Amino acid sequence: MLLLLCSIVLPLLLLIIISNNHNGHSSLPRAPWPRLPLIGNLFFLHHTPTVASLTEVLRRLHAVHGPVVSLWIGSKPAIFIACHGIAHRALVNMDTTFAHRPTSWYTGLNSHGVNSATYGSRWSRLRRNLSSHLAGEHVAGVLRSSANRLVKSLESAAAGEHGGDVVTPSDTFRHAVFGFFAALCFGEGVEEDKLRRLRGLHAEIISLIVELDAFHLVPVFVQVVCYFPRWRNLMRAQRSHHVLVTDIISARRRRREEGVGCDVAEPRCYVDTLLGLGLGEDEMVSLCWEYMNASVKTTTTALEWIMARLVLHQDIQQKLRDDIARQASSDHTTCGERRRRRPFVEAVVLEALRLHPPAHYLLAHTTDKDVTLDKHVIPKGSIVNFDVASIGRNATLWTEPSVFRPDRFMEGGEGTGVHCTNAGCGGPETMKMIPFGAGRRACPGAGVAMTVLQSFVEDLVRRFKWIPVDSNVGTDVDTTEKQGIITEMRVPLQTRLVVRRDNLLFE
Ligand code: HEM
Ligand SMILES: *[C@@H]1O[C@H](CO)[C@@H](O)[C@H](O)[C@H]1NC(C)=O
Ligand SMILES: *[C@@H]1O[C@H](CO)[C@@H](O)[C@H](O)[C@H]1NC(C)=O
Ligand SMILES: *[C@@H]1O[C@H](CO)[C@@H](O)[C@H](O)[C@H]1NC(C)=O
Repeated sequence: MLLLLCSIVLPLLLLIIISNNHNGHSSLPRAPWPRLPLIGNLFFLHHTPTVASLTEVLRRLHAVHGPVVSLWIGSKPAIFIACHGIAHRALVNMDTTFAHRPTSWYTGLNSHGVNSATYGSRWSRLRRNLSSHLAGEHVAGVLRSSANRLVKSLESAAAGEHGGDVVTPSDTFRHAVFGFFAALCFGEGVEEDKLRRLRGLHAEIISLIVELDAFHLVPVFVQVVCYFPRWRNLMRAQRSHHVLVTDIISARRRRREEGVGCDVAEPRCYVDTLLGLGLGEDEMVSLCWEYMNASVKTTTTALEWIMARLVLHQDIQQKLRDDIARQASSDHTTCGERRRRRPFVEAVVLEALRLHPPAHYLLAHTTDKDVTLDKHVIPKGSIVNFDVASIGRNATLWTEPSVFRPDRFMEGGEGTGVHCTNAGCGGPETMKMIPFGAGRRACPGAGVAMTVLQSFVEDLVRRFKWIPVDSNVGTDVDTTEKQGIITEMRVPLQTRLVVRRDNLLFE
């Protein structure tokens, strides 16, 4: 009722009260309706606004007004950019101007993270530390054991002979990815029971967050209304999370102080690096939350989309298998002097990230001054969103964009110049897809994410044959999306899993 009042009656009142003579803003990106202070354009997102309803509104706006449109919230516009050239000019050519994040009314556990940090020395220090931790040599070891555990648990799920058992692997994927990042974040010694509780709390907190908040589109009083019913549960879950994570951190600190495992062979987990930075308790908890929140759902979702595509396209799965076999045998022969060719598995991962980016939009950016971007004036403090999914599926940039075709990324293909881990560095061409963003705020986890995905996918096709549940149909994988901050498969992947008997070939 209150929501109805806020979202319909108030805007109408304001519409009557305020005359719309804002002609000073004529060069702003097109806004669909007259600007309304306080409420902006939000009132046409009827019901509780969701990411899906926003996406639908934006699709219609882009169709009429082109790749740059704006919606008004309060006194600031929210600008949506769906063109890779303009995204390149903003994120790369004007990188320091666009490196800022809008502030929110409620940041919860994110409040001390890298993502919400003001562009400046604290952000830079924390981000450098995170990046150097992720580039460490210990990652490879943790990855090996996580991949082995993933294969083992799928083997027991697929114990059936011949036709193979039908499995729904999403939960096994999530478990493996969570285990991998938890080991990197907290070290490998954490008890299974604590990890299970941590996983549960992450799931609970994420389910209680109002997703549209990420776009900074919801005026504060509507946010209060949205959060009201879930507030107590959210606070309780966050408190439990805080207790659990400080407990894990203290155990790690004791280990260090007692000198347990502090020899050079001991890999340094993220918490170890944070302990060396002299941070407060809240900061450390927040940074650990961010680490797991930013890494697990994104990577799990990408993995599920990739495997869905490999079930759907048996020929590509076979080609990938052949390529893995070829690489394995050439590793033995011409060790070292092999010419660096893009492995097919990398092309498969890139093609899945192009067509099914886990994040359809970058995290919101803002500017620290008024700027002109192409013919558009972007006032200081505007909320600037970049439409990752539209760029990757744009038919001017990609031939038959809706077709899954990893070959685009192989030699001579239209995607050979694309490298997600340093998007933008080689000009706009390298930004034909930006699943990890570009510029100063680009995802610091991109390199690790690419490594994990390639490694897991390789092991998964090496050990198993992934076939459609109904092998007569061949196309029974539903690729419909469930829109959200992270866009997952609407129907979790189901597949028949056959354990391969010939995997000795690769040992
Ligand atoms: C497939 C996996 C992943 C995807 C698709 C992904 C995607 C993204 C995107 C789109 C952004 C926003 C970039 C921008 O606003 O310009 C981002 C930021 C970020 N990501 Fe990732 N990410 C992934 C994995 C990871 C991992 C593994 C980590 C760390 C362990 C991580 C940590 C972060 C952090 C800290 C930021 C904020 C950076 C800043 O504001 O300076 N991400 N990610
Ligand atoms: C596709 O990309 C081109 C070049 O970046 C851009 O001009 C065009 O508006 C985009 N199309 C859509 C539908 O976004
Ligand atoms: C988790 O990460 C997403 C971005 O991937 C962010 O929008 C969201 O606010 C984070 N959730 C919490 C509770 O911090
Ligand atoms: C984290 O930062 C501290 C201080 O800046 C630095 O000494 C340490 O080497 C960093 N950790 C890693 C793993 O790079």
